[in-house]
Amino acid sequence: MCGIVGYTGDKNCIPILMNGLTSLAYRGYDSAGVAVWEGSDLTLRKAKGKIENLKNLLETSPISGLSGIGHTRWATHGEPSDVNAHPHTDSHKTLAIVHNGIIENYLHIKSMLVKNGCVFVSETDTEVVAQLLGYYYDGDPLETLKKTVPMLEGSFALAILFADEPETIYCTCKDSPMVVGHGKNESIIASDIPAILEYTRDVYFVQDRQIAVLKKNGLAFYDEFGATIEKPVTHIDWDVEAAKKGNYEHFMMKEICEEPDAFRKTFDQYVNKDFTLKSERFPWDKARAKSLKRLTIVSCGTAFHAGMLGKKFIEHMAKLRVDVDIASEYRYGDTLIENGEAFMVISQSGETADTIAALRRAKELGCDTMAVCNVTGSTISREAGHVLYTYAGPEIAVAATKSYLTQIILLYLCALDLAQKRGEMSQVQITDRLKEMSKVPAAMQKVLDNKEQIQYFASRSFAVKHVFFIGRGLDYALAMEAALKLKEISYIHSEAYAAGELKHGTIALIEEGSLVVALATQPDLQAKVASNMEEVRVRGAHVLAVTNGPWDGAAGHSHEQWQIDQMDATLAPLCAIVPMQLLAYYLAVQKGCTVDQPRNLAKSVTVE
Ligand code: G6P
Repeated sequence: MCGIVGYTGDKNCIPILMNGLTSLAYRGYDSAGVAVWEGSDLTLRKAKGKIENLKNLLETSPISGLSGIGHTRWATHGEPSDVNAHPHTDSHKTLAIVHNGIIENYLHIKSMLVKNGCVFVSETDTEVVAQLLGYYYDGDPLETLKKTVPMLEGSFALAILFADEPETIYCTCKDSPMVVGHGKNESIIASDIPAILEYTRDVYFVQDRQIAVLKKNGLAFYDEFGATIEKPVTHIDWDVEAAKKGNYEHFMMKEICEEPDAFRKTFDQYVNKDFTLKSERFPWDKARAKSLKRLTIVSCGTAFHAGMLGKKFIEHMAKLRVDVDIASEYRYGDTLIENGEAFMVISQSGETADTIAALRRAKELGCDTMAVCNVTGSTISREAGHVLYTYAGPEIAVAATKSYLTQIILLYLCALDLAQKRGEMSQVQITDRLKEMSKVPAAMQKVLDNKEQIQYFASRSFAVKHVFFIGRGLDYALAMEAALKLKEISYIHSEAYAAGELKHGTIALIEEGSLVVALATQPDLQAKVASNMEEVRVRGAHVLAVTNGPWDGAAGHSHEQWQIDQMDATLAPLCAIVPMQLLAYYLAVQKGCTVDQPRNLAKSVTVE
């Protein structure tokens, strides 16, 4: 949700800012801009549209300087346009600012400033901050920030370049991430780790209302009252190459192909070589696990779908009731949860505003909190009582793929751990299951090696208008993610339906040519799914069945079958997600969609 980058050092900042913005483009991409200190003045370049437009502008109208800030925008206040693009300045150009988030009381501040003679040029809440800082500026940037930042309500990450101190970048944030690093004769700030990795792996996360001051020779941090603070360093072990596209046409395809590896990495972190669980890595000892009455899982988007599958894993294996909710609903709902209850959030980024709010609410109510998270040092990983890290590495494509896979792997392992601690499964059963689980990456690889089959299917089906993903049990939870993946990147209308529920209404939408993907990986439920496939087939749908090993029964009721290697039914979703992601990918490519940056979406949603 908007990408920020800032640089000060001994190099021309423009290529560095552009490089950073390109690597942050997944956060927003409706306009972009930079501001640099050119020696005598703050100079801005801004362009509506993709970063490419800003690059072209910088070629026809070049600028350079040793310090600067840049931004890629996902519009909230004011339509995407050159004038609304960041950076913004105050009327006297004493400063330039880039902002991520929403200033909720901007109208109130704006009317105060207008009364005092300020003239606004854009419709953004960001310009209000620029003008406010300019209004209170007394020659001392730190004092000005101390005075003005407490006036801001909402969420924000701000990077500011003051004309009076052009080699310094000031930043502050609230409920919006900001990462700072220092390399040789240079300091850099960004709203996400991939933009910093090339300069340093040792980073500092700026926390709410703290102020970071970046100079060529080092960093300084202050609390909201201006007192110096020491901050812990976080070492990021992600590979620099992992955040690059390599020879792949899209990040999404690269990230799908990385799934077997991400599987092994996550598995190895939580499972011993002798196929026992590293139970100390999971929350709760035996007594506590046994005493649990309920677990609540809250998350958004793909992570919510992971929670839905997690519920089924945990209820089935550990016999523990699990309630799952969408964070934006949960945070304002009647939270019927008690002190000491178990509460889990799931978040790839660790920065999703609604999920953070739900976590904070649960903490206030005295819950025993934990998080499944992919980013070390992120807000959620800092604030949750216990963190189960996924080891997906950096995920750049907006559509989540390998992060979802690693989330469901962890939820599966969590279910096994709880099952063991609650006495629902024996050590032998756990070890057998883990041994079988370790074979899943090879089965996924087979799907990847045969991906042309899926590509061919997509080349024949891309004109389809409606796709319905149906399944029962675990397959229904998986269908939800399959449908989301397809709609977000291909813009094809798709829905997930519990196969048995279709007849209670949605079957009315099935018509000649509708595509129905029947997820049928659960042998116990296959006969029932077969009936549902037949119901749609006779109404004109084209039926694709995805099966767990061979299933003769599929033939009569479907037009096409894709098989994954036969495996324990509970493990099947971990593999069956791969063909679903590939299907979404190839349909989107066939339709000529911008796969990595789908319209209107952003990877990390740090506003409500
Ligand atoms: C956005 C992204 C989704 C993601 C969701 C939750 O909507 O586009 O891909 O699933 O946020 O993100 P999180 O980082 O909390 O998993």
